[in-house]
This record gives sequence, structure tokens and C-alpha cells, in this order.
Amino acid sequence: MEYAVTTSELTRTFGSFTAVDRLNLNIKPGEIYGFIGPNGAGKSTAIRMLCGILEPTSGSGSVLGYDLVRETEEIKKRIGYMSQKFSLYEDLTVEENLNFYAGLYSVPRRELKGRVREMVVMAGLSGREEELTANLSGGWKQRLALGCAIISRPAIVFLDEPTSGVSPISRRMFFKIIQRMAAAGTTVMVTTHFMDEAEYCDKIAFISVGRLMTVNTPDNLKKNVIDGHLVELELPDAMNRLDEIENLPYVKECTVHGPLLHVLLANESHRPVLQESTGSEPRSITPSLEDVFIALAKLKGDTPLSGNVPNL
Ligand SMILES: Nc1ncnc2c1ncn2[C@@H]1O[C@H](COP(=O)(O)OP(=O)(O)OP(=O)(O)O)[C@@H](O)[C@H]1O
Ligand SMILES: [Mg+2]
Repeated sequence: MEYAVTTSELTRTFGSFTAVDRLNLNIKPGEIYGFIGPNGAGKSTAIRMLCGILEPTSGSGSVLGYDLVRETEEIKKRIGYMSQKFSLYEDLTVEENLNFYAGLYSVPRRELKGRVREMVVMAGLSGREEELTANLSGGWKQRLALGCAIISRPAIVFLDEPTSGVSPISRRMFFKIIQRMAAAGTTVMVTTHFMDEAEYCDKIAFISVGRLMTVNTPDNLKKNVIDGHLVELELPDAMNRLDEIENLPYVKECTVHGPLLHVLLANESHRPVLQESTGSEPRSITPSLEDVFIALAKLKGDTPLSGNVPNL
């Protein structure tokens, strides 16, 4: 199978509103594929279609070789899905939740004990098997929810903001688990609003107002998306100079980063004039994924990207 997921012009409307607009995706087996974009961009809606729980309005696609419209039952059996509002049974214990999901996904009886044990260890919940889920803190619930989503060892797992509301340490641990799964061949599709997590993805698909704007590696996005030359400036009264600098004709954008200003110049040749008008030496910097995110979000899905960023 060349692709774990492939879609062609996949679209979903709600009344006259188009939430997902002609999405074309190709996700290779074993990839960590990040879905990034502003609130309301259509990420969760797209994932729900890929999981076979929301019918597309038009377009087509397949997941693990099964048709998104005609074979949703086959798809549901074979995937793992952790929804944005994941559903654990609060009045069940850790172990009971895992048993329940194992049953739902028809984990063979003789493997059940071993699998539950494996998930408990993976989630770092050893010794807490008998604890009521309601009493777990957010980060632990999240890891248990991941355990429930992957207890059937699915070939692909869809994780919709699995780390929202979780501490940085838990987030990092969560992504270590994801990386281990991917290294063992599991395809992982994950949405996140954390740019440090986006860095862990093999590919990032950026979606805005329902449209896929670009798909590429984090490195290529940082190198190619931003149209202009980014510099940082150290000024004692940075905050007060923001408007003045942003109004310079060769400045496309100016943002505050702690004590520094990030200034996007039309091109590198404007560095000396910026130094003249501010009295401080601009240092060239590589854009961060956050800079890329903001630049892409501003395009609101309807302007083609400048610069040459072919989709991967
Ligand atoms: N069942 C529905 N009925 C009507 N509109 C819906 C429905 N589900 C989603 N939408 C709308 O579709 C758009 C996309 O929503 P979606 O939840 O997919 O966004 P998202 O990218 O996941 O956002 P977030 O980052 O906030 O989770 C939103 O404007 C939302 O209000
Ligand atoms: Mg969402």
C-alpha cells in the first residue's frame, strides 16, 4: 500500500457553510503527519471524515485501502481515534476503560491481559490500574485515552489535539510515545496548536478556512514560506517603536518577541536602511514555525503562496 490515507477533493459542508473544501491528501505509512491551522479551519471535521464517522458531502478517499464512503465499518475497525473531547468512562477504573476499548475493537481474548498491561506501562499508570478515571488529572487521562485508542494496535491512529491542557513535561512524554509508535510502523495523524510539537512531525499540512494551503517538512516550511527577509532588532524601547517601524515602506511586518523585535523586510537589501533609521544592527534570523503559522494564517486560504513551496 503506497498510502495509508489518500483523499481527492474531499469536501464537507454544513448547510451553506463549507467546513472542508476540496482536500487532497496523501499520507505514507509510518509517517507522523501534523494537521495545523487556526481554530475553525476544518481539522477536526476532516479527521472525522477520515475516521468514517462523518459522511463527506463530495469527493473521495481511502484509509488503509478502504473507501471513505462505502467501507466506513472496515475503517472504524482498523483505526485508532482520540477525539478532541475524548471519551473515557469516568466511573470506570483505568483498567476497566482499557478492557472496554479492547472489547470494542475485538482484541483477541488471549491477548487481552498482555495488551492492557502494555498500555498501562506505556501510559505510566503502573500501580494505578484500580484508580477511578474521574480521579486522574488531565495529563494522565490523556495518556489513558491514548492507550484506549491504540490498544488494538491499529495501523493508523488519528489524534485530535491529544495534548491540549497538558503540562510541557507530559506533552513531551506523549510525543515520545507517538515517535516510538511511528518508528514501529504506525501511521500517526495528529492535530496540535503547539509549534514545538509540529516540529516533531515528518510532514505538516497547513489548513485554513477549510483549504489545504501547503504540505511540507517543518524545515522546508521555515525556509520557503515566508516571503521576505526576517531580522531581529534589539531596542531599549521596542514596544514604543513598533508602529513607527511597521510603517517604514520596506517593512512588511513587525512583532515583539520579549525584549526583541522581529522585523520582516521586503528583502535583505533593506537591512542597512533599517539600521540607519533605528540605530541598531538588524541580525538575520531563520523564521520559526510560529512565524510560518502566522504568515500562512494571514493568507486566509485564498491567496496562493508566494515563494516556491511545492507540496510534498
Ligand atoms: N456539525 C456541525 N454543524 C455545523 N457546523 C459545524 C459542525 N461541525 C463543525 N462545524 C463548523 O465547521 C468549521 C470547522 O470546524 P472544525 O471543528 O473542523 O475546526 P478545527 O480546525 O478542528 O478547529 P479547532 O482548532 O478550534 O479545533 C467551524 O466553523 C465549525 O463551527
Ligand atoms: Mg478541532
